Amino acid sequence: MTARTDLAAHLASLALPQALSQTLTAAAAACVEIRKIVSGGALVGALGASGVVNVQDEEQKKLDVISNDVLTDMLLACPAVAGVASEEMDTVQPATNPTGEYLVLFDPLDGSSNIDINAPVGTIVSVLKAPSATPTEADFLQSGRHQVAALYAVYGGQTMLVLTTGQGVAGFTLSHDGQWLMTHERITVPADTKEFAINMSNQRHWAESVQRYIDGCLQGADGPRGKNFNMRWVAAMVADVHRILMRGGVFLYPWDKREPNKPGKLRLMYEGNPMAFLIEQAGGKATTDGKQAILDVTPTELHQRIPVALGSANEVDQIAAA
Ligand code: AHG
Ligand code: MN
Ligand code: MN
Repeated sequence: MTARTDLAAHLASLALPQALSQTLTAAAAACVEIRKIVSGGALVGALGASGVVNVQDEEQKKLDVISNDVLTDMLLACPAVAGVASEEMDTVQPATNPTGEYLVLFDPLDGSSNIDINAPVGTIVSVLKAPSATPTEADFLQSGRHQVAALYAVYGGQTMLVLTTGQGVAGFTLSHDGQWLMTHERITVPADTKEFAINMSNQRHWAESVQRYIDGCLQGADGPRGKNFNMRWVAAMVADVHRILMRGGVFLYPWDKREPNKPGKLRLMYEGNPMAFLIEQAGGKATTDGKQAILDVTPTELHQRIPVALGSANEVDQIAAA
C-alpha cells in the first residue's frame, strides 16, 4: 500500500512560512484532543449544559467550554500565535510571548445542539496575520480576504480536517493512531446541485426573495426549476458545509424578520469567513444573499453576525436571482 501524505508533509509541500505551519499544526493538534473528549461523551462528563450564558446570549454547553479551553491553551502555547479570539470569549486574548505572528479565531464547538444526541459537531478556525505582536481587538477586525488559512474539523462517523491556505482545499482523515492522513487531495464543489440546506421551521420569517427561492426548489420538477430537490439539515454548519464540499449543495442561514436589526444567526469572523474561504477555494460561492461575497464584508465587531448563502456556484446565483 502506498504511504499517505500526512498533514506535516502537506504543510511542508505548500512552502508556507514556518510560523504559519506551526500555527496550523497547533490548531490540528487541538482538534485531536477535542475529538477524544467528544468521543468520551457521558463517560468523561462532556454532555449537558455548563450553566453559563456566553457573550452571544446563548447557554454554553460543557463541551463548548472544554473545547474553548483546549484550543486557547494549545494555541497560546505555540510561539507563532500572537493572540486568539473565540465565540465563547467576550474579547480577544493576546499571547504572552513576544514572537507571535498570527491571530487565530475559532468556533471551538460548532453545532452545540448536536452534542447530547451524538450527532456531528466540529471546530472552525480562521487565521490572520497579526499586525503587531501585542494585538488589540481592532487588529482582529480584518475582512475575510485577509485570511492566510482556514480549516475545520468535523467529528462525525470519521474525524476529518479540511484545510485551505489559499492553494486549494485538502482533506485529512484522523487515523486510529492519531495522525491526520490526506484522503482528499483537491476538494472541489460541483457548480450544479439538487440539494439545499435551510432550517425550514423559520420559513415564515424569511425575506420574500428567500421564500421565492425555496418555494421554487420545493415545487421540484413541476415548478420553475424543472427538477426535484432534496433537503438536508444537520444543524451544525460544519457538517452541512462538509457535505457541500463532498458532493455539492447550498446552505442558507438568512436574515429574518423576527429581529430585523440582527443580520442573521451565524457569526462572520469564525463561522462565515473561514467557511467562505474554504468554499471559494473549492470553486463554490459564499455570499450573504447570493450576491455579496462574505469575504468582502468589512467587519465592525468581533462577534458580528451575517446572513449566509453558500455552496454550488450556479445554485448560489439562483438565490441571487430569486
Ligand atoms: P454554535 O453551536 O457554534 O452556536 O453554532 C450553531 C449554528 C450552526 O452551526 C448551525 O448551522 C445553526 O446554528 C443551527 O441552527 P438551528 O438551531 O436553526 O438549526
Ligand atoms: Mn457555530
Ligand atoms: Mn460554537
